[in-house]
Amino acid sequence: MDSQKSGQTDRRDFFRKALAVIIGGIAGIVPAIAGLRTFLDPLKHKSDVAPSGVPLIQVTTLDALPNDGVPRKFPVLANKTDAWNKYVNVPIGAVYLRRTPDDKVEALNVVCPHAGCFVDFVAEKGNFLCPCHNSLFTMDGKLADAKSPSPRALDSLKVEVKDGVVSVAFQNFEAGRPDRVPVS
Ligand code: FES
Repeated sequence: MDSQKSGQTDRRDFFRKALAVIIGGIAGIVPAIAGLRTFLDPLKHKSDVAPSGVPLIQVTTLDALPNDGVPRKFPVLANKTDAWNKYVNVPIGAVYLRRTPDDKVEALNVVCPHAGCFVDFVAEKGNFLCPCHNSLFTMDGKLADAKSPSPRALDSLKVEVKDGVVSVAFQNFEAGRPDRVPVS
């Protein structure tokens, strides 16, 4: 009888220990898998730019924009984080900003919608010219020449001016198509 009790106690101890080993194993494996995924996928970048909605990024001050209506080019900087590092104020693109006669601010992405080159502002002619295949755009970004290979106008971006600071809802769009499809 005693040996039967002792046998039951041994079995209970065995199952209790086995359960503890299984739970401990699972608890150890979960973070290991998470760490492995991060290790194997270091290019899975996180960014301060939310995937949904387009956050406003401060670009310059209103004072930095002259009243002559001529576009000026500004870099767009933002913070980025990857698996290991946080990068502060790295360039993510550039915009042309200009004050309009009614004292508003317009923003155009510098990227040519044809194949992604950066357009230049040609001050003597008052237009934008893409150096790659000669797409021509007016000062407000419209296509200026029917022969331009660009399938659409330059991409205008939303601007907010608050307390003398100019912010832009910066976004890149897919090149080579007539409609605006945001690059994710
Ligand atoms: S990339 Fe601008 S015209 Fe081709």
